[in-house]
Amino acid sequence: MKIIVTGGAGFIGSNFVFHMLNKHPDYDIICLDKLTYAGNLSTLASVMDNPHFKFVKIDICDREGVYKLFEEEHPDIVVNFAAESHVDRSIENPEIFLQTNIIGTATLMDACRKYGIKRYHQVSTDEVYGDLPLD
Ligand SMILES: NC(=O)c1ccc[n+]([C@@H]2O[C@H](COP(=O)([O-])OP(=O)(O)OC[C@H]3O[C@@H](n4cnc5c(N)ncnc54)[C@H](O)[C@@H]3O)[C@@H](O)[C@H]2O)c1
Repeated sequence: MKIIVTGGAGFIGSNFVFHMLNKHPDYDIICLDKLTYAGNLSTLASVMDNPHFKFVKIDICDREGVYKLFEEEHPDIVVNFAAESHVDRSIENPEIFLQTNIIGTATLMDACRKYGIKRYHQVSTDEVYGDLPLD
């Protein structure tokens, strides 16, 4: 199983990478991240030497770069954590939120359709998916 994890140098994405490598040591995990102010490569230092892990610096809005990666890697699953995630910053600079959260997401979904990816998982918030029951 090969999984592309976008935004894997961020808070939740990096923890997902650690969880998957730990729980499924035979899976190949490719982390795609633009390394914005929110992404930190040193967060992934402990897995950089893992032969089942690879880091690629790409912007999810870069259609050519994303398509090239999908073509080379043929992932089974794509999990998208790449986002402008700090809502306060959207008041100062909304455009980057539209670029990454909408155009970038659309680019990934187009790539999934083009290369026949069997599962695309969009990580988002409770505002989008709704609350979980307390239990
Ligand atoms: N942190 C939380 O408590 C929380 C709660 C609910 C939902 N979420 C959702 O989970 C997702 C990830 O959140 P997080 O807290 O890990 O965010 P984060 O800001 O810590 O990390 C985002 C990552 O995405 C990367 N990134 C940003 N723009 C990119 C682009 N254009 N191309 C490629 N990479 C890009 C950044 O470099 C960074 O590594 C978001 O959709 C967020 O809304 C987070």
